This record gives sequence, C-alpha cells and structure tokens, in this order.
Amino acid sequence: MPAPLPEPSADAHAASVAVCALIAAEITAGGGWIPFSRYMKLALYAPGLGYYSGGSQKFGAAGDFVTAPELTPLFAQALAVQVAQILAQSAPNILEVGAGRGILAGQLLLELERGNCLPERYLILELSGELRARQRQMLLQVAPHLAPRVAWLDALPDSFAGLVLGNEVLDAMPVALVEWRDAETVLERGVVLNERDGFAFEDRPAQGELLLAAQALAGQVPIAGPYVSEIGLVARAWLREWGRVLERGAVLLLDYGFPRAEYYFPQRGNGTLMCHYRHHAHDDPLWWPGLNDISAHVDFTAVAEAGFDAGLEVLGYTNQARFLLNCGITEILGRLPNDGGKVFLTQSRSVGKLIAPHEMGELFKVIALGRGLNEPLLGFARGDRLHTL
Ligand SMILES: C[S@@+](CC[C@H](N)C(=O)[O-])C[C@H]1O[C@@H](n2cnc3c(N)ncnc32)[C@H](O)[C@@H]1O
Repeated sequence: MPAPLPEPSADAHAASVAVCALIAAEITAGGGWIPFSRYMKLALYAPGLGYYSGGSQKFGAAGDFVTAPELTPLFAQALAVQVAQILAQSAPNILEVGAGRGILAGQLLLELERGNCLPERYLILELSGELRARQRQMLLQVAPHLAPRVAWLDALPDSFAGLVLGNEVLDAMPVALVEWRDAETVLERGVVLNERDGFAFEDRPAQGELLLAAQALAGQVPIAGPYVSEIGLVARAWLREWGRVLERGAVLLLDYGFPRAEYYFPQRGNGTLMCHYRHHAHDDPLWWPGLNDISAHVDFTAVAEAGFDAGLEVLGYTNQARFLLNCGITEILGRLPNDGGKVFLTQSRSVGKLIAPHEMGELFKVIALGRGLNEPLLGFARGDRLHTL
C-alpha cells in the first residue's frame, strides 16, 4: 500500500476549493463534461488559482518535486557547453520556456559569463505570473548585474534566432486521455461532476484530430484494447509553432519519456500520468485539483515528428546521462576541490543522480530540433539514439 498523502493545510484546502468551483462551472457550461486536457489545463494554469499559477512552494525540498537545475549547479554548467556552441552558430539569444524558480537562468548566465559567451538577451516565456515574480527575484539575488539582459514574454515571438531551452516543460503540457477499447472504438476520457466526490471520469467517443491521432498510433504500435494512455496534442501544436518562429538555431528540450514504441508498450496500459504532492507520487489527478503537479511522460517520437513536419531538422536525441557526459559533467565535477568534505560529496551525489541509469540518467532524454546550424551538436557526439525514434 502506498503511504497516505499528507493532509493539505486549511489554506491549501481553500485554494483547491476555488479551483474546483472554476472547473465545476466549466463542466456545467460544457454540458456536463470537459475533456481531461481542459481539466489539466485549469488545474495547472487557471490564472491565480492553478497549481503553477498559485502561490504554493512547488520546487525543491520544501515543495513537491526536485528538477535537475534544483539538484546541482553542475547541471547548468554542463548544459552551458552545449548552449555556447548553439549560440556561436546562430545568434546570441536564449529563450527559456517554463523557467520554474529561475534557478537555471541564473546559473546558466553566470556560467556563460565565465566562458565569455554571454547572450545579449535571455528571454523567459512563462505562463505563470507567480513564477515570473519568483524568477525575477531569483535573478536579482544570484546575478543582479546580468538581470538587465533578462526579459519576460507573454507568448511565442513572431520570429527568433538563437537557442530555445525547456527543462521539464513538455511533461507539464495538458494531454488528452484516450482509451482504445478495440481496433474500432477509441474513447476520450473527460471529467464530470459527481455529487458525492466532486469530480469523476467519463469516456465519450473520441473525435476530430484526437481520433485521427489515436487511430494513427494504433497503426504504428501494437495497441490491444482495452488500453489507456495519453496523446500530447498541445505539445505537438506547440512544437509546430517553433517551425514557424525559429529562423536559425535550436530548440533543446530535456524531459522524462520514451520513444513511441516504448511509450505505448503493451504493459503500460494505464498510461504514464503522474501527480506529485510534497514529494509523494500518486496517480489520481482528481485529488485536490490545484494543489499537486500533474504531468505525463513525453512521446519523443511525436516531438521529433512535430518538429520535422514543421520543417525543423532533428539534430540529436539521447538520454540525459549521455548528453551530460558528452558536455563534460564529470570533468566539471573533477575540477571541484576534492576536499573530501561536504561540498564535493554533495555535488558528486547530485551528479550521480543526474546520470545514474536507475535515477534520472536513462528515463530523462534530451532532444534538439533546429535549423541552419552547421556543426554537429557536442551533446550528442557519442551515444546518439536518433535511430530509436
Ligand atoms: C515542471 S516545471 C519545470 C520548471 C523548470 N524548467 C525546472 O526545470 O525547474 C514546468 C514549467 O513549465 C511551464 N510551462 C508549461 N507549459 C508552458 C508553456 N506552454 N509555455 C511556457 N511555460 C510553460 C510551467 O509554468 C512551469 O514553470
């Protein structure tokens, strides 16, 4: 039996009740049903109320989960090797999507300054007003002299040259939940009101783009119903946008997930949806909406296809361990003074977590899509896995 989830505080209850009221009103206005993707969008991003837009502490030890840049500055230092190469071949601009607490932005800017390859502009595209405020605060704290280079965007720019960077962003994009009953019947899972418990799932026949995508998948991988999984139509549309916007440079995305054949593996018949609350993982996205993170693993074949369809080249794909090793993370670790003391030990443990296969090294992948770059990317020099997509 999994450990019971910690009981949210009275304030947290009140915040969740407000999100629930908003979702309930949409369900009623929608005739009693909304697609799960809409529910996920509201639970995570409803202005001022959703998980990412509300005021709770999400990242780090006191929050709900820890991401790579939160673990150790060596992640940003290794990443900077790849970033510098892309900027040198395109334009001196970085656009970070979904910058969390702003910790990666601060560390990356400091490392690029040390390497004498600072970008002229560091743009951040962030949906959450609350996180923007935290990012601004973090930058003023860790790199105040570099803060004037940073600016926030409300939407994708019309055109962009340089590097687009996203760590754990795709997994936070709303997904459709699909049930393949048999070869013919594809259902979309939605959310309805349930007088006793609040919300419940209800399936309806899938339609339009989702139905086509589900049927296409069933033709590519051996899905035998009943089988439930996710389809990330929002992420696919978002990636296609970059095909229009990116003049020259690369979109570099790090996240957890698999190539399609592994994602829709017969044994993974309940999908990959995951929720996090105070470092407890659970699988019930209807539990206290607005208080926990909801995410889905990434189908990296879909990422590559969406980029390719939008005219971008797939420049590299590998696991996080291989990418960071190619960027020299162990050499960076080796340059720390090995005093046998707290700093070295803590940093080497964190690097171990980033690259160990049973931790983040294998589940996390890195993909680069791009246009107009001449040199092969350093991060994929050895162990590229493009052939697995
Ligand atoms: C799991 S957090 C990762 C944060 C940070 N990159 C890190 O590694 O710590 C996901 C982030 O993606 C943002 N996000 C999700 N979809 C987005 C979109 N379409 N545009 C911009 N930001 C987005 C969320 O607001 C949040 O900041």
